[in-house]
Amino acid sequence: MIGRTNDFSRRLLAWYGRSRRDLPWRVGPASPRGACPDPYHVLVSEAMLQQTQVATVIPYFRRFLQAFPTIADLANADEQDVLRAWQGLGYYSRARNLRTAAQTIVRDHGGRVPSTVEALRSLPGVGAYTAGAVASIAYDCRAPIVDGNVARVLCLVDRIETDPRDKHTLANLWRRAEEILPKSRLGDFNSSLMELGAMVCTPRSPRCMTCPVSAHCQAFAAGVQDRIPAPRKSKQPPLLHRDVLCVRSRCSDGGEEGWLIEQRPSRGRWAGMWQFVTIERMGSAHRRRTSQRQRGFPSGSRS
Ligand code: ADE
Repeated sequence: MIGRTNDFSRRLLAWYGRSRRDLPWRVGPASPRGACPDPYHVLVSEAMLQQTQVATVIPYFRRFLQAFPTIADLANADEQDVLRAWQGLGYYSRARNLRTAAQTIVRDHGGRVPSTVEALRSLPGVGAYTAGAVASIAYDCRAPIVDGNVARVLCLVDRIETDPRDKHTLANLWRRAEEILPKSRLGDFNSSLMELGAMVCTPRSPRCMTCPVSAHCQAFAAGVQDRIPAPRKSKQPPLLHRDVLCVRSRCSDGGEEGWLIEQRPSRGRWAGMWQFVTIERMGSAHRRRTSQRQRGFPSGSRS
């Protein structure tokens, strides 16, 4: 267990002040202490950072804010334009939910991102983690967060040897994440936990010798840091077979040529995205009826 919680947060915050990465959704190093970043920027970054690494997100975040500088711009944007800005990040329901959340914020919250965990959680695509991250980072609210990095840090510090994805262990981690919150600088504290997990307390070979809170770490004290957290039980990934037809139109009159593409169904994986005509084979784990799809040669798709 983390003893002397004040000392833990003091050390962690001091380390964060010295070592944190200068990321585009954070306030710059020259900003006054305690300044919070723009809540809209935090919302966008947290949506992108779900299931995607920081280095991948940075250029997408910059381009996205150029295309949709305010929450009203995002709320009024065409869904296809938002999906295009998201293209390559994957998990496209995040982009759809973010646009719908922006519309809800404009309609129900006067265009201001809500500051309470409860109101944030009522937005589409916003779960406990994202709500806690936005409330604490953008508004310095007293809200805990547990993502993969934080779960790992807490498992090591408290020497929790059960699987952090297990329901009971996860509930315990959320309770601990709340207990260790300091009196002030809540957003910085939560960010510093994530930063420690990303930079020092890494999944493979944690850098315990340079860890600012190693004095509080029960796993390090017992020399068991290499076997915590418990590894995930591996699941066999499903094997899918698809035949993809690349069909090109040929124009004898010198007109525009194009590729035949189709739009995927509005639900499921890559919902609503465009692709070459794809036939999923019988016996494939996720067969779909192709007849429901919209097909055509898009204008401007050149061969
Ligand atoms: N991962 C998830 N949220 C993050 C954030 N705000 N900063 C760095 N990494 C993160």
